[in-house]
Amino acid sequence: MSNKTQVNIGVIGCGQISAAYFDAAKTFNVINVVSCADLNHEVAKEKAEAYGIKAVTVAEMMADPAVDIILNLTVPKAHHAIAMQALENGKHTYSEKPFTLSYADSKEIIDTAKAKGLKVGCAPDTFLGGGQQTCRKLIDDGWIGRPTSGTAIVMNCGPERYYHAAPKFFYEQGGGPMFDLGPYYITALVNLLGPVKRVSAITSKAFEERIAGLQAHVPGEKLPVEVPTNLSGVMEFHSGAVINMIASFDVWKQDHSPIEIYGTQGSLKVPDPNTFGGPVKLAAGGRKPVEWSDCPVAHIYTDNMRSIGVADMAQAILDGRDYRCSGDLACHVLEVMESFEKSSISGRHIELESSCERPAPLPLGLITGQLD
Ligand SMILES: NC(=O)c1ccc[n+]([C@@H]2O[C@H](COP(=O)([O-])OP(=O)(O)OC[C@H]3O[C@@H](n4cnc5c(N)ncnc54)[C@H](O)[C@@H]3O)[C@@H](O)[C@H]2O)c1
Repeated sequence: MSNKTQVNIGVIGCGQISAAYFDAAKTFNVINVVSCADLNHEVAKEKAEAYGIKAVTVAEMMADPAVDIILNLTVPKAHHAIAMQALENGKHTYSEKPFTLSYADSKEIIDTAKAKGLKVGCAPDTFLGGGQQTCRKLIDDGWIGRPTSGTAIVMNCGPERYYHAAPKFFYEQGGGPMFDLGPYYITALVNLLGPVKRVSAITSKAFEERIAGLQAHVPGEKLPVEVPTNLSGVMEFHSGAVINMIASFDVWKQDHSPIEIYGTQGSLKVPDPNTFGGPVKLAAGGRKPVEWSDCPVAHIYTDNMRSIGVADMAQAILDGRDYRCSGDLACHVLEVMESFEKSSISGRHIELESSCERPAPLPLGLITGQLD
């Protein structure tokens, strides 16, 4: 690939999130989306027509020597099989979150990729957005001193009640608020604070069965709940910071900040890690308590840039450098998420086996489309 300036991408899974990828991919010259596939070939054909690419079958994409990276936008339970199939076919692969349904499956992908000299990446890439990168810089530059504690809180009434047209998978293995929304929060925290050492948690569920509630749904469709829908726990980071986290689909209304980090010299309100922008708020710098002040977002990429992570991986393939949304990061995040339920079932703290490097921050002063 030495003279290549672009890496070719084939997209598998043309559902709700795919448009965000097809749109934002145009920002990064390093990636060239060439084809798409879906179990439902009609939706693949629609997307292919809309974006001027080829609709193919999964088997055709896997066999196509022109495709370098398989971008896996299927439902969580298909992530592992498609990633393994991509690697077996000699292709790099990048998946939507959650990486897989289990830490063991995630590790198998990482080990296979390493053995084959291929790259594996995973969403979320929202931590590369301007809001999260500004928080990273504030922490790294010492504005709040040494981070010691904080909160990460994501609670709503469940995707079937307000936005998703096909909500069944949210209540199957690999769903629930932790596997659906936890990746944004825990990845953001690892970016800010480094890897997690141990987890302690209690989980519960408010309903054994939920009812699909949008006009787009089959009226009265029942959604059996296979997973906890309310998880409350504590993460101790290797840095020493201790973060309380709640993830819930059982809450109608609440007003907590998504993430707050408390340090020895101040406090930071981190924006919603499921978005790319701000607001960022800082209360720091005094010898006595001070009010929150708005902190300007200093980095670019504040709009929906889903695909920046796969673009960064593509650049890494061309340049032989590390990439930020790495499989190691995703595998660690998966183990943290899984540990909430393990801790609740066993009644013990769970010491993590995995670890990862903090991803490199994006530099200040980039122009749109640049990553370095
Ligand atoms: N919808 C969102 O707002 C959103 C946001 C961020 C991330 N995600 C993540 O993106 C992924 C997809 O979510 P979605 O909302 O687009 O789901 P979706 O159900 O709307 O679309 C998934 C598509 O994948 C296809 N598919 C499933 N298994 C397949 C297989 N084995 N081979 C080929 N195609 C297959 C389905 O036919 C469907 O068209 C999930 O992992 C989800 O967590 C979704």
